[in-house]
Amino acid sequence: MAEHESLEFGKADFVLLDNVSMDEFMTNLKLRFEKGKIYSYIGEVVVSVNPYRAMNIYGRDTIEQYKGRELYERPPHLFAIADAAYKAMKRRNKDTCIVISGESGAGKTEASKYIMQYIAAITNPNQRAEVERVKNMLLKSNCVLEAFGNAKTNRNDNSSRFGKYMDINFDFKGDPIGGHINNYLLEKSRVIFQQPGERSFHSFYQLLRGAPDPLLRSLHIQKDPTAYNYIKVGGQIKSSINDGADFRAVADAMKVTGFTGDEIQTVYKILATILHLGNLTFGVDGDVTLIENTKLVSVIRELLSTKEENVEKALLYRTVATGRDVIEKQHTTQEASYGRDALAKAMYERLFCWIVGRINDIIEVKNYDARVHGKNTVIGVLDIYGFEIFQNNSFEQFCINYCNEKLQQLFIQLVLKQEQEEYQREGIPWKHIDYFNNQIIVDLVEQQHKGIFSVLDEACMNVGKVTDEVFLQGLNGKLAKHAHYTSRKLSPTDKSLEFERDFRIRHYAGDVVYSVVGFIDKNKDTLFQDFKRLLYNSSNPVLKGMWPEGKLSITEVTKRPLTAATLFKNSMISLVDNLACKEPYYVRCIKPNDVKSPLLFEQERCRHQVEYLGLLENVRVRRAGFACRQTYPRFLQRYKMISEFTWPNHDLPSDKDAVKRLLQGCGFDHDVAYGKTKVFIRTPRTLFSLEEQRAEMVQRIVLFLQKVWRGTIARMRYRRMRAALVILQAYRRYKVKSYIREVNRRFKNVRTMKDYGRHVKWPTPPKVLRKFEEALRNIYNRWWAWTLIKGLSPEETLQVRAKVATLEALKGQRADLGLQRAWEGNYLKRDSPDTASSFTLVSSELQRKDKFMRVLFSCNVRKINRFHKAEDRAVLITDRHLYKMDPLKQYKPMKSIPLYNVTGMSVSPGKDQLVVFHTKDSRDLVVCLQGMVPANESRIGELVGTLLSHFKRPCKYTLEIIFKSVKMHKACSSTDAQPLIAVFDVSLTWAAPPLNSTSLEKRKLQVNIVSPIQCSMNGRKCTVIVEPKINQSQPDFTKSRSGYILAVPGN
Ligand SMILES: Nc1ncnc2c1ncn2[C@@H]1O[C@H](COP(=O)(O)OP(=O)(O)OP(=O)(O)O)[C@@H](O)[C@H]1O
Ligand SMILES: [Mg+2]
Repeated sequence: MAEHESLEFGKADFVLLDNVSMDEFMTNLKLRFEKGKIYSYIGEVVVSVNPYRAMNIYGRDTIEQYKGRELYERPPHLFAIADAAYKAMKRRNKDTCIVISGESGAGKTEASKYIMQYIAAITNPNQRAEVERVKNMLLKSNCVLEAFGNAKTNRNDNSSRFGKYMDINFDFKGDPIGGHINNYLLEKSRVIFQQPGERSFHSFYQLLRGAPDPLLRSLHIQKDPTAYNYIKVGGQIKSSINDGADFRAVADAMKVTGFTGDEIQTVYKILATILHLGNLTFGVDGDVTLIENTKLVSVIRELLSTKEENVEKALLYRTVATGRDVIEKQHTTQEASYGRDALAKAMYERLFCWIVGRINDIIEVKNYDARVHGKNTVIGVLDIYGFEIFQNNSFEQFCINYCNEKLQQLFIQLVLKQEQEEYQREGIPWKHIDYFNNQIIVDLVEQQHKGIFSVLDEACMNVGKVTDEVFLQGLNGKLAKHAHYTSRKLSPTDKSLEFERDFRIRHYAGDVVYSVVGFIDKNKDTLFQDFKRLLYNSSNPVLKGMWPEGKLSITEVTKRPLTAATLFKNSMISLVDNLACKEPYYVRCIKPNDVKSPLLFEQERCRHQVEYLGLLENVRVRRAGFACRQTYPRFLQRYKMISEFTWPNHDLPSDKDAVKRLLQGCGFDHDVAYGKTKVFIRTPRTLFSLEEQRAEMVQRIVLFLQKVWRGTIARMRYRRMRAALVILQAYRRYKVKSYIREVNRRFKNVRTMKDYGRHVKWPTPPKVLRKFEEALRNIYNRWWAWTLIKGLSPEETLQVRAKVATLEALKGQRADLGLQRAWEGNYLKRDSPDTASSFTLVSSELQRKDKFMRVLFSCNVRKINRFHKAEDRAVLITDRHLYKMDPLKQYKPMKSIPLYNVTGMSVSPGKDQLVVFHTKDSRDLVVCLQGMVPANESRIGELVGTLLSHFKRPCKYTLEIIFKSVKMHKACSSTDAQPLIAVFDVSLTWAAPPLNSTSLEKRKLQVNIVSPIQCSMNGRKCTVIVEPKINQSQPDFTKSRSGYILAVPGN
């Protein structure tokens, strides 16, 4: 909470003084100054005393202490008022301004810089690059302006010799987005003349002392300021100013703010030209005026990028148009010197205004659209030259002091007069407080026809020789009776005034004697047209751009330009109007001594300033008055949430009653007064407390609104989601239904189709039905397969099973599995029809003897016998035995191998018909099928499949049959049947009729597909290799080292 100073530092706010008297005021001010407290308040006005030493009170931590705080929460500081102005601007959307006043050297410019720094530091929390850029420009522009507009005077080493009012524009978020600078009357006479102990503008010394040698050479200037007439007075002065370092800082600031290289060079050229101009001297030769040091003319020509003869002509002649004729009138040396000085002053003033214009171009608000960005608000900071009294006071001092009169008048209007008038208007009991109203002095200067400016303008307009004395006479004539004006003629005994030269004004801040010398000239501010044309015709575009009026031709008649006094008066009136429409905040600066000492508090000096700044009256009005006032509806709008009677709306007869009820509820009734249309709050503390309560309530209201709004958003989102869900579900249902309908439509008639719907294209299922489609396809495939096989005879069924077994065992490992043809199994009858009857006989005999059920396979073979010889045999495989027979002996059975002895079979991957039956007793049977009809029929697949399927144990009720790319002849025996080619890849549970399990071997037969084939002959291991041979007509075995070779026809 509030951090307050202890009483040892005196009263932080003069309003709290026990007695409002000058003595007590001064005691308090002095005490605070001596204790290092340079800031105090009078209500919301900051009183600042120049400490003349570096104070450690402007750092980041101090900024943090003041950020967002109310004025009375922290000890008095500039930052507090800057924050108050910023808050008013941000909270209430009000344009505000901070008016800094005080005499020269009181610390106005320093204060304005601290205020700018504070605003820059507390804004742009999001570090937006554009805002940072603007802030940087605003801060950097100061440095440039001070270099060209400030000078060392006897009162202040860095005295502002121009008035500056700077607007900073803010967007609706309160971040700076640009700015604008208005400059007022530069004291340009300083360019050619300075009082003893003073200097010209800093820029000249910075150039001489800081510019690198090549630049100086190119400008033809030397480092020593005393070499130049215009600045040699100040050239020898020792001071703490570091011109060299400042030159670099200014050059850097110009670059950063966006001055181009050419522009910066032109600035240096103009400064150099002015220095050279000061050294030009004129002489006479007979009746001809001439330039004595013509070398300088060519230097000036080079710097100005014009023609040499033009420079010389402009300096020595004046072109005058009389009607249609144009004549050239030669100057006297005096006129030529006058013209030269006028040129130097005008060039410098133009340069300064051009710099301000360039800075404005750079910092002005760009791309701002009020509709998009909200209202653009402004904080203005006014740092204008302070009231000053010199040894010799001239036209400039007169203008400066008039300006201070105007600002004092504004202060009086806003703080004293308006305040008291308002209390009366609102019917608040009020005791009038006297204060000095300086309107009379303002009128003395600016009044139409009678004012000093009018008299001066009138004098200037007179034809013929007009002198400053004529002007003084005019003043004496018109203002003889004015209480604030006098001259030697009007008070002949007053020796402090010189006859025919001086007049005295009694300013609000003190008496000032002005010398009229130069008033007429300075007011006319004449610059011969010839110079304007000279500069306009420069080939340097930057310089040319500064002098657009040089474009006018000689004979063109122009309006008489406004005088310097009128221009200044107009600019002051518009400045005051501009300030008056903003909410003002004041900083009143006091200069504690004339010697820049941090220790000295000159009582009399300070008392004088307190007096003329009207601070005591300010305290009185403040004490008697109220810190804040607001109309009832506005007050309610801001604070109605504090009271239950007013939130959200009151039902009392009037807003005034509602406000009363609210304030009574808060216990602030004693600190307020109720006017006709406004409520007046006496102490800021009450206002602060109201603000605090409001902030607390606003938080709750925001939370409440957020809650309601979040609920609304959630409900809206929920409704949208639900609607989406309903649509989604309906759409899904529709997709599912239409898919099923489509499947139904396409497969409706598959039963009657030739291929049972195999060709029917499946519709694409919706994503959700992909698994369903898979299952559906399975069901269909099973149905389809079942439909195909349900009509098969038991024999055909066996055949299919055998083929499936073949496919499983050999697919991809052997070519030509013989699946395309019908498998007959018992081939001997077909292959050898001549001996078929003998075979049938033997076969029947064996069936009777060995009781076999079925012949699985029979074929002629070539076989290897025990003596490693090949011989022709036939094999008959039944469900019990494998018989070897001799076909040459009516199929006499040779040896038989019980089928249970057969453990496996080996075949080669080739096309040959070699097969090895492996037996338990290692007496493997190696044969090659032969004598097939038709000749090249491959029967190995059939033999393997038949035996495998015979050995395979079937399920009791179902038979798992795996069809894999089976190309099957449906009932190959039936002659009329079209081959039905079925290509499918399904796992089919086939409810086949149960087979007689006793007829089946109940173990697995091992089938190898290898080459060479390993086998055992009579217990000896050996290999059988298949070798194609060119001239081999029939396959035949020969013995090899490791076993046997089956030679096959090799084409
Ligand atoms: N707050 C401060 N802290 C330290 N020094 C200060 C402060 N204010 C002013 N000064 C000193 O006083 C000098 C004069 O101050 P400044 O230039 O602000 O006066 P001014 O009121 O602008 O005068 P002028 O009317 O001549 O421009 C500064 O150069 C600085 O040395
Ligand atoms: Mg200043």
